[in-house]
Amino acid sequence: MPKTTTFLIFGASGDLTSRLLLPALGQLLKREPDRQVALHGAGSDAWSTTRWNKTVHDSFASSDTADMVERLGTTTYTQADITKAADLKRLLEDIDGPLVMYFAVPPAVTVAACEAMQQLSLPDDTVLALEKPFGGDEAGARELNATLTTLVPENHIFRVDHFLGRSTLLNILGVRFANRLIEPVWSADHVASVLVRYDESLALEGRARYYDKAGAMIDMIQSHLLQVLAVLAMEEPVDLDEIDLRDAKSAALRATHIWDDNAARNSRRARYTAGTIGDRTLPSYVDEDGVDPSRETETLAEIVCEVRTSRWAGVPFTLRSGKALGEKTAEIVVTFKPVRHIPDGLTGQPADGGVLRIGLSPDRIELVLNVNGGDDPFALRRESLSTKIGKSTLLAYTEVLSQLLDGDVALSVRADAAEECWRIIQPVRDAWARGEVPLETYPAGSTGPADWATSQI
Ligand code: BG6
Repeated sequence: MPKTTTFLIFGASGDLTSRLLLPALGQLLKREPDRQVALHGAGSDAWSTTRWNKTVHDSFASSDTADMVERLGTTTYTQADITKAADLKRLLEDIDGPLVMYFAVPPAVTVAACEAMQQLSLPDDTVLALEKPFGGDEAGARELNATLTTLVPENHIFRVDHFLGRSTLLNILGVRFANRLIEPVWSADHVASVLVRYDESLALEGRARYYDKAGAMIDMIQSHLLQVLAVLAMEEPVDLDEIDLRDAKSAALRATHIWDDNAARNSRRARYTAGTIGDRTLPSYVDEDGVDPSRETETLAEIVCEVRTSRWAGVPFTLRSGKALGEKTAEIVVTFKPVRHIPDGLTGQPADGGVLRIGLSPDRIELVLNVNGGDDPFALRRESLSTKIGKSTLLAYTEVLSQLLDGDVALSVRADAAEECWRIIQPVRDAWARGEVPLETYPAGSTGPADWATSQI
């Protein structure tokens, strides 16, 4: 009989729990009939057991897994202030066997709770799971990491990045490493540029309390897109385990810097104004509930990085992400350099030597090639081959929870990588704070400021 893992969620009355964690738990139980989980929630709100049970039921129903509620048996909700050692002690009483504590709470609460936890002794096999952002800057991340390792060893700390959990990102591994057509040309010798783009049509969606302090740079570029860059740029890991894969990613991140060390020139920021997306009319970001206009929070950001290794030096990696754009466009675009020479007689000089696009949701891959043929047999034109890849029906958080409950940290962000990601973007934050990069605007529903090259693609 497999052991029962206690899954204790802090911030259980919050939106992340009902929207992401519980639906994923339902899916996980359905997919893994032998999985035994004892679910307990703790939150600052005074919720009744009935309200908690209804939340669990409704969240499971949202992932079509309402029938899995009975697999949980008794689940409890406790009102608690997790920044107080006495409350934490009460929550941890009577827990036996493996324990996963999930901090679905704002970063400052996580830090305070971890400090309070230092007064307790945690059960063996405790795993701590944290939501991004991990600290507020490089020094903050280092401090948080130091506190965490006084509680449990690093390989019991799961810094959650649901991008790493999603099969989409893992699908890059096969494309990159298993194709003779691609693997040998994956370097500055052949690649002209790489773009990682995550444009969302979702806007603020009532998340001002968090987002207005984070903005697109921290919410997406620092937290997720640098992890995508790491997987694209890393050397081949010996194994996809917690050591080799994370070593390879960390080495790539350590080599990553803002292009030319010039953040004023190699970063851009913008904020949406009123507009329409489909049948939704959106107010300007500054008029959204809870937004403080004086913060000058960007809802679209872009940075250009260089990975200073012999494989990649000289190739711009552009990372861009924003909200309230006309369409969701989530993709990696690898543009190859033009071939050295084309025979006289072929007409229509191509701008590049072909393009590989990896769609990040929906998951697809497209190879754009220069071909000739047709009425004018020697005229070059573009054709593309495309297919869906990785038809995972699982939610990204389902993958995350599965690894978490198994104590497998291969896809969690390691301490040093979390610190590196802050280090990489710090010059941008400084340049923005000094007012060296204007805060531009774009109407909600557009493709972003018209003069950004990435808005034209
Ligand atoms: C989250 C961000 O981490 O990722 C959100 O906080 C963003 O702002 C989301 O919308 C994007 O990921 P997904 O998987 O929901 O497209």
